[in-house]
Amino acid sequence: MLKGIIPFAHQLLKDSVEKGAVTVDATSGNGNDTLFLSELVGEAGKVYAFDIQKQAIETTKALLEEKNCHNVHLIHDSHSKIKQYLPSNTEISGAIFNLGYLPRSDKQIITKGDTTIQAIESLLKMLKKGARIVIVVYHGHEGGKEEKDEVLQFASELDQKSFGVIQYQFINQRNNPPFVVAIERR
Ligand SMILES: C[S@@+](CC[C@H](N)C(=O)[O-])C[C@H]1O[C@@H](n2cnc3c(N)ncnc32)[C@H](O)[C@@H]1O
Repeated sequence: MLKGIIPFAHQLLKDSVEKGAVTVDATSGNGNDTLFLSELVGEAGKVYAFDIQKQAIETTKALLEEKNCHNVHLIHDSHSKIKQYLPSNTEISGAIFNLGYLPRSDKQIITKGDTTIQAIESLLKMLKKGARIVIVVYHGHEGGKEEKDEVLQFASELDQKSFGVIQYQFINQRNNPPFVVAIERR
């Protein structure tokens, strides 16, 4: 069967992230992707996880404690400031974004095109060869279309000699279904 959006996003990272690697969850939210990355890189690896909402950081922290994960650096700040938190020579093996708002929370607090693109630009400079930035684009909410358009515009203009960019989307689903954009350093 065709993979759903989240399983497809995770598979892209499973196929390219090695044990012991450094990864980034740019939008930790309820911590599901942070936990996924934490288990993927193992005890010798590291995950930097960002969120601007205290509630998201607390929920992620509790989930990681419950699962006995100790390789995550949780950062209560915007992913647009990634450069301030990661050592300058860091090489990243994978990163994930889940755009939109925190489920069952304030729908006014959303990711935005300008800060999302700033974060992607910072990550592109730190990305190892063959590594991927996987972006799950939710865009049905207010403000979602603007961000979707900006991210697609930015990603589609990346130099094909340096990056491969794909979009994975169910095109026969109703109500603005989410899709995946993945950027791979060549
Ligand atoms: C769709 S949710 C993420 C869901 C999460 N990946 C999970 O597994 O539960 C989007 C999250 O992005 C966060 N966010 C919005 N703008 C942000 C920014 N500039 N930097 C970091 N996080 C941000 C929101 O607070 C929200 O928790």
